[in-house]
Amino acid sequence: MRVTVGVSGGIAAYKAAELVRALQRQALEVHVVMTKSATRFIQPLTFAALTGHKVITSLWDETNSTEGEYDSSIEHIGEAQWAEAFVVAPATANILAKFAHGIADDFLTTMYLATQAPVLVAPAMNVNMWEHPATRANIEILRQRGVRVIEPGTGDLACGMVGTGRMAEPDAIADAVLNSLGRRHDMAGEIVMVTAGGTREALDPVRFLGNRSSGKMGYALADAAQSRGAKVVLISGPTSLHPPSHCELIKVVTADEMRTAVLARMKDVTLVIKAAAVADYRPVSISDHKLKRTGPLTLELAPTEDILAEVVRRRSPGQLIVGFAAETENRMENGRAKLLRKGADAIVVNDVSNDGVGIDADLNAATFLTKSTAIELHEMPKRKLADRILDEILALRRPRSLVVETGESAGGHPTQEQVLSQSDAPTGSRRQLIVE
Ligand code: CTP
Repeated sequence: MRVTVGVSGGIAAYKAAELVRALQRQALEVHVVMTKSATRFIQPLTFAALTGHKVITSLWDETNSTEGEYDSSIEHIGEAQWAEAFVVAPATANILAKFAHGIADDFLTTMYLATQAPVLVAPAMNVNMWEHPATRANIEILRQRGVRVIEPGTGDLACGMVGTGRMAEPDAIADAVLNSLGRRHDMAGEIVMVTAGGTREALDPVRFLGNRSSGKMGYALADAAQSRGAKVVLISGPTSLHPPSHCELIKVVTADEMRTAVLARMKDVTLVIKAAAVADYRPVSISDHKLKRTGPLTLELAPTEDILAEVVRRRSPGQLIVGFAAETENRMENGRAKLLRKGADAIVVNDVSNDGVGIDADLNAATFLTKSTAIELHEMPKRKLADRILDEILALRRPRSLVVETGESAGGHPTQEQVLSQSDAPTGSRRQLIVE
């Protein structure tokens, strides 16, 4: 998604660089437009380097072309159409006044009139200017027009006074932008470890034992968690996929390397999602030369460590641990047994017996299994499924939900639904109601 950040001339202009970074961490594409006076506080070059795009500072500058982003030579119109959100941070008293009265005498103010995208302003100014009736009136006009005002904070101001007028923090502004774009931002504060792809166990310098896992499901989960505000550590077996930008990628090859990486980082995370297809066996010895074809060959294999079970044993309080189960038969039975054996909070059970769905495919269907629930997630693209899985994981974090029994009265007639107890009550005729 695309955001234009407008920077006007105030001391807080330097914080706009942090805002650009915060938006980019959410995988948003960012352009920057500056007023002339903003360029006195911070160099356009700073924003050009951060965004990889030219920074627009004037209506008339012929070098303003933002290559290939739009065709129109009337740049304020092009930029106004390009942006899916327009956020001005800092917004000076002067910019607020111009916006309120439709004065369009530079690129930034012209863009405000030309855009139909949601507009957000993060005011920053001296307390007396903020409290002046002219500014109050302008803010009121803008609010009524649907402009989202991100309130300034109170504290020491650059002018030496104390009061309201400090620009809101860049992360809070970024959150408001994400909200205005309709993006869910419900994983802010979570640090998520995702394991993805298959591991490879070498037989000799050129051969390995592996599996068909493409890593697509794990990468989709990493991307979904990141775009919902989580920090992501992606521990990946070999794959040809591009990792989501801004996530920390740790590349591994063998099950043992994956185990070392997972254990090294697990203390830092709030949620572990083990989507990787980890080898269950590795050759007892690895030949240091290429094995020759000399007749039948018997391989001796030793089991690998079960990383998921180990993660559960070493978990810290509050950490959620979710595993995957790839099954070709007796899906639910095997999935349930795996959930209990491994002790995870949930297991995402995949049926990998059909081509086109599951392993190495773009579509997937799954059952999200906990000790007390089984939620069917029907066939859909893996990226969409990733969001559904995260929805269910987050539901485990919510305050415990109420359970309602659709039981029968002594006379055999259905009773009204009755609130019984908390969600970790045993299942049976009960169904779960999530109380938000
Ligand atoms: N897993 C793991 N370490 C292993 C094997 C599996 O952490 N050595 C994890 C996987 O990442 C997955 C879950 O355990 O989250 C289940 O993997 P799966 O291959 O379905 O099950 P296995 O434990 O290998 O059991 P089986 O092969 O007998 O079905």
